[in-house]
Amino acid sequence: MNLTINSTVRLNNGVLMPRFGLGVYRIPPGKPTLDAVHWALDAGYRLIDTAKAYGNEASVGQAVRESSLPREEIFVTTKLWNAEQGYDSTLKAFTESLRTLGLDYIDLYLVHWPVEGRRLDTWRAMEEIARNGRCRAVGVSNYMTHHLLEVLNNGTIPPAVNQIELHPWNYSTRKEVVESCKIPAIAMEAYSPLARSKKFDDPELVRLARKLGRTPAQVLIRWCLQRGFITIPKSAQRERILENAQVFDFVLQPEEMDTLEALNYNLATGWDPWQAP
Ligand SMILES: NC(=O)c1ccc[n+]([C@@H]2O[C@H](COP(=O)([O-])OP(=O)(O)OC[C@H]3O[C@@H](n4cnc5c(N)ncnc54)[C@H](OP(=O)(O)O)[C@@H]3O)[C@@H](O)[C@H]2O)c1
Repeated sequence: MNLTINSTVRLNNGVLMPRFGLGVYRIPPGKPTLDAVHWALDAGYRLIDTAKAYGNEASVGQAVRESSLPREEIFVTTKLWNAEQGYDSTLKAFTESLRTLGLDYIDLYLVHWPVEGRRLDTWRAMEEIARNGRCRAVGVSNYMTHHLLEVLNNGTIPPAVNQIELHPWNYSTRKEVVESCKIPAIAMEAYSPLARSKKFDDPELVRLARKLGRTPAQVLIRWCLQRGFITIPKSAQRERILENAQVFDFVLQPEEMDTLEALNYNLATGWDPWQAP
């Protein structure tokens, strides 16, 4: 796979989505988010991942509007929060996110979490959103195999993306979910690709990074990309935003991918959606 910062994946509805972007979870609204998004766009990032729950949609939208890049060159994802799941409330929440972002359309709208008892009504609304012309693709997040099957068996449009936590410390356990997404061609998006900086001192990772002359963060991002995942490392710091984008001029060998994947111990740095009924 010849990857560049401009590499895209074609989603199952035909839309092209960048493989690499910036996550803005826990970046405060206002200047910190504005700066981070501007630095990222200047460094060549073309995908920005926010959510209603992050409280910084307005700043993401502002940075996108302020950018000299044409709107269609930037791919904006936001997410429906749990409290707003359900048919009418999802439609309303989508309109609110659009207004908060101050954009004419959203590129990708994700259901943030598989809320029991609301998933099917929510997905019907997501299908309606996909048809209304203000959203280019709809998908899910934190959906494990049983959640996905429910939507696939009852819906009329498959999710275009499933965004879940993925890194070497959980990938082998989550392979089943990755496999479940293959036939309906649901693109896998890896969140917390840096394991929220909890594993940078892992001796195997440090050894590999030293051997390659790379940083642990760069090795982890490269691992995600080579596994075929879209990924959205978060940083609020300019040097790290630049560092995290320097991952397109080296390759991990198959045995190096294996070494990283052997680190698996089913680590979930946030909520573990396997537990969600
Ligand atoms: N759908 C979901 O439920 C869900 C859940 C979690 C995350 N996400 C998305 O995925 C994105 C990424 O995940 P995440 O924010 O949880 O964690 P992450 O990207 O795995 O790690 C972020 C942490 O790593 C640090 N960091 C970044 N680059 C670094 C570097 N080069 N060297 C050293 N430290 C570095 C950051 O600190 P600094 O900012 O100080 O650099 C921050 O503490 C989120 O921002 C969000 O968009 C989605």
